[in-house]
Amino acid sequence: MEAARGAGPIPVRSRTIALVGLMGVGKSTVGRRLAKRLGLPFADGDIEIESAAAMTVSDIFAELGESEFRAGEARVMKRLLEGPRMVLATGGGAILNPETRDLLRDRAVTVWMRADLATVAQRVQRRDTRPLLRGRDPLTALTAMAEVRYPVYATADLTVDVTGGAHAQAVEAIVEALETHFAAHEPEVRA
Ligand code: S3P
Repeated sequence: MEAARGAGPIPVRSRTIALVGLMGVGKSTVGRRLAKRLGLPFADGDIEIESAAAMTVSDIFAELGESEFRAGEARVMKRLLEGPRMVLATGGGAILNPETRDLLRDRAVTVWMRADLATVAQRVQRRDTRPLLRGRDPLTALTAMAEVRYPVYATADLTVDVTGGAHAQAVEAIVEALETHFAAHEPEVRA
């Protein structure tokens, strides 16, 4: 039976795979590849917000402010998490919203992509698209963010360290962790 809206937890194998974690850990790139690997559709929370608002994330922050961005982000997360199963790359702050967190808990398998902060700081320097880092030393800003967010990310169903190695390795590490998780929570029925 299709789970109704607000019906609480849905079966583990029917859930969206939601990648959570700090900006710059590779949620979007790895998510896209993971979706291909699993034969699932892919969505990127930030891109969905941008198309819903017809504005870039940077412009939303600059023109409407962070609280409007967060409200839009929560609406987009709700729509995606109440929709069909997919791989979903969430924006780094999405899981901080309590309603989004409840939806993730009930309708997604959450995967915290965790990487060494110095590595993340190096990665985010390649692009200037993140309003929360603008004009700040990336390592200092990310360290402060990690202090607040790591306890929340740590509530994810799975944690996968993606510090070293290529994206392909991260994909395989996530697939492996998911298989273990599915087997433990919902063993496949044998014929
Ligand atoms: C944010 C992360 C960004 C984007 C926005 C805010 C955050 O997404 O949603 O700049 O609060 O961590 P990515 O994690 O995809 O970079």
